[in-house]
Amino acid sequence: VPRIGIVSALHDELAAVLQRLPDEQRAPVAGRDFWCGHWHGHALVAVLARVGKVAAATTATILIERFGVDRIVFTGVAGGLAAHVRVGDLVLARELLQHDMDASPLFARHEVPLYGRARFATDAALSDALARAAQAVLARPEATLGAGVTREFALHAARLHQGLVVTGDRFVAAAADSAALRAALPDALAVEMEGAAVAQVCHDYGLPFAALRTISDRADDSAHVDFSRFVARVASPVSAAVLEAYFQS
Ligand code: ADE
Repeated sequence: VPRIGIVSALHDELAAVLQRLPDEQRAPVAGRDFWCGHWHGHALVAVLARVGKVAAATTATILIERFGVDRIVFTGVAGGLAAHVRVGDLVLARELLQHDMDASPLFARHEVPLYGRARFATDAALSDALARAAQAVLARPEATLGAGVTREFALHAARLHQGLVVTGDRFVAAAADSAALRAALPDALAVEMEGAAVAQVCHDYGLPFAALRTISDRADDSAHVDFSRFVARVASPVSAAVLEAYFQS
């Protein structure tokens, strides 16, 4: 039976998904709760990875080795990097890169040593399906979030962006830091702390991977304030709505 792994870092990012599983069963492994259940006839395992690349890689490996998932979707929030990526927008990763990987001069900056690459592509078919689901949710944001939250976060104007997402073990919370990332990686849309790690694990196992992020902040001096306000109120309902649209398609 095909089984999809759904991963978020924090509880606030996945709460709405967990609420909707009718039959979930908790399986604790390595200090994490893996929730096995069904949603619209699809078998899934949902888990909170915690924050950062190591936590994400461990979680992905357990999902594959212990729970036998055949694809993984990461969902959560990210900081906007490109000028046109605004709070409330969705970003679907087509490629992921570790912005804090640097084994130069032995290897090119950002290249993961012995992989011969810096960028790991996500699965095209899985990403295409998530893009369609995301567009369906963005077309009617008030159906997911209600009129009040839609207005407060200007989600009527929210857009879907697709391209490079960069990952590192740093919450980017200073305008100077996000400017440096933009300078080093001009095509980066958004920054987060787990995606490229899961992409590398899925690459190792030959497993399809996709990553969809809601932009919670602009990775600038007010990032921590915007992040906290946004995550609980917007991120998890949006993730749940997109996944629901994906499972129903
Ligand atoms: N996730 C959400 N916002 C972020 C930021 N500013 N930096 C890193 N990860 C994030």
